[in-house]
Amino acid sequence: MKKQKKINCIAVICSGGDAPGMNAAIRAVVRTAIFNGILVKGVMRGFEGLIDGDFIDMDSTSVSNIIQLGGTILKSARSKRFLTEKGMKEAHEQLVRNNIGGVIIIGGNGSLNGAKNFTSRFKIPWVAIPKTIDNDLYGTDYCIGYDTAINTAMQAIDKIKDTAGSHDRLFFVEVMGRDAGFIALQTGIASGAEAILVPEAGMDTTRLISLLGKGWARKKSSMIVVVAEGNAEGGAFKIAKKVKEKFTHYEIGVCVLGHIQRGGSPTCLDRVLASELGVRAVEALLNGKHNVMVGEVHKETVYTTFDKAISHKISFDKSLLSILEKLSV
Ligand code: F6P
Repeated sequence: MKKQKKINCIAVICSGGDAPGMNAAIRAVVRTAIFNGILVKGVMRGFEGLIDGDFIDMDSTSVSNIIQLGGTILKSARSKRFLTEKGMKEAHEQLVRNNIGGVIIIGGNGSLNGAKNFTSRFKIPWVAIPKTIDNDLYGTDYCIGYDTAINTAMQAIDKIKDTAGSHDRLFFVEVMGRDAGFIALQTGIASGAEAILVPEAGMDTTRLISLLGKGWARKKSSMIVVVAEGNAEGGAFKIAKKVKEKFTHYEIGVCVLGHIQRGGSPTCLDRVLASELGVRAVEALLNGKHNVMVGEVHKETVYTTFDKAISHKISFDKSLLSILEKLSV
């Protein structure tokens, strides 16, 4: 068997959109590395900082009192330069120059794609920790940030319902989810919405109006439609406009929740998940489980190749859509 090269120093990097729980993951990575006698460097500003060699030395105190904080102390970025051969080569040179023997990346789809491209060209091993409020990576039940985001969105919709009920209004609430409707599905059910529009299941305006008509017939004083930003019919403003042309029973309001869903203090579930995955990721790197994403499925630690994590289809529980339909009548 080929002998593994001993790793003495690792780098931790955050990439893509921020998500609550990233700091908890950084903390877990840094402290696990120190526990194992390994040096850790934090890479600032994602792949951009990796290319520029923007590294900081990290110790136990550099991650003190951050587990409860949203955002990321290392900052994050979406990098165009890392998509190029030149960018990846420069990043590799920076890692070699700094004696870094392995990389832990905390990221979503784009970040894992970067990790896949890099590791197919260079020998330095990487391990990924899944993070995205969209929860759209294969190989883990939950990505870091998702639980906090759905609770933030649910609480926001609860507040909108106060106004909807007080003024007899129909509200269209747009939640994040570029390619996936998981946030919309969960928050729609949890907030007692009348309808949900998601990329995974089509619902045209005619069907939506017929659904809302049932509510009107039942004398509902207000209604909520949760729209995932990536659904085929367009965003909340566009759908509200189309509905307004044919359905005139209610005054219509629109609210795009936007980035409030990405911020804030992580929930208990996200902090625990981030802590567990941070520890497992460092252990994977040190134990020779390389170029994989570490996830948790039914409470078991699972290792998935970068390619599979980003390209494998995640099952969308359509039965929950019919539950919503039954409960909203
Ligand atoms: O991928 C996570 C996500 O929050 C998407 O749901 C959303 O479309 C996107 O990031 C927004 O990214 P940005 O902050 O770059 O506008």
